[in-house]
Amino acid sequence: MKVNYKSYWRKSGLKGNWGNIFLKQLSEHKPKNFLEIGVFCGVTAKNVCKFLKEINGDNFKYIGIDLFGGEKISNNDEIEPKFLKNQKFSNPIKNLVYNYILREKLNSLKSVENFLKEYKNNIQLIQGDSNMILKSLDLQNIEFAFIDGGHSYKTVQNDLDILYKNLKGKKSVLLCDDYGKEGEITEVKNAIDDYVKIKNLKVEVIENRFAKIIV
Ligand SMILES: C[S@@+](CC[C@H](N)C(=O)[O-])C[C@H]1O[C@@H](n2cnc3c(N)ncnc32)[C@H](O)[C@@H]1O
Repeated sequence: MKVNYKSYWRKSGLKGNWGNIFLKQLSEHKPKNFLEIGVFCGVTAKNVCKFLKEINGDNFKYIGIDLFGGEKISNNDEIEPKFLKNQKFSNPIKNLVYNYILREKLNSLKSVENFLKEYKNNIQLIQGDSNMILKSLDLQNIEFAFIDGGHSYKTVQNDLDILYKNLKGKKSVLLCDDYGKEGEITEVKNAIDDYVKIKNLKVEVIENRFAKIIV
């Protein structure tokens, strides 16, 4: 199946061909129920919803968790994209439009809700810290989770552990960003390596960037 990750006029964590590499994973596993930890400006979310609709019609669900500019539980243990602090764009027109004319924070819940409004019946966006939120959710039906929220050791282990406990034995996919040499974050890599060792899980490295774990 041909995939085409659209970038829109917003920021995305998956630039260049990374979006297509990511969508190929969806195409391989064909989930109906998807979770993204770390929605950012919603670009991956929109691509995921479009793809899920193409393969499932209206029978799909996307759940997205993000701080959306709100408070983290701990300020010490998170590495945040610099963009979130002051929303700077290298393109001066984008800067003018978003920061001065629309005055729209692209990582706010309101902005992402509006960006995804055509999928409003199939999505659930939750504002909060995954260290708190994840344990309160019903995750039993999640077939594919993209773990790309807080990048500290503690948060990555929390996210992995809660998903593993809910999904163990279901052959669900946990795809973690920032694992391989193409964008490695040491805390992320260490958290994943330590977790899979304890639980005796296998990691497949996708294009030297994503860690794929099937639980
Ligand atoms: C790298 S960005 C995600 C990129 C996005 N997946 C994409 O493809 O465009 C990380 C996001 O995680 C969010 N985040 C950071 N710590 C978090 C936490 N503890 N719980 C939930 N979201 C968190 C940030 O607000 C940010 O929007």
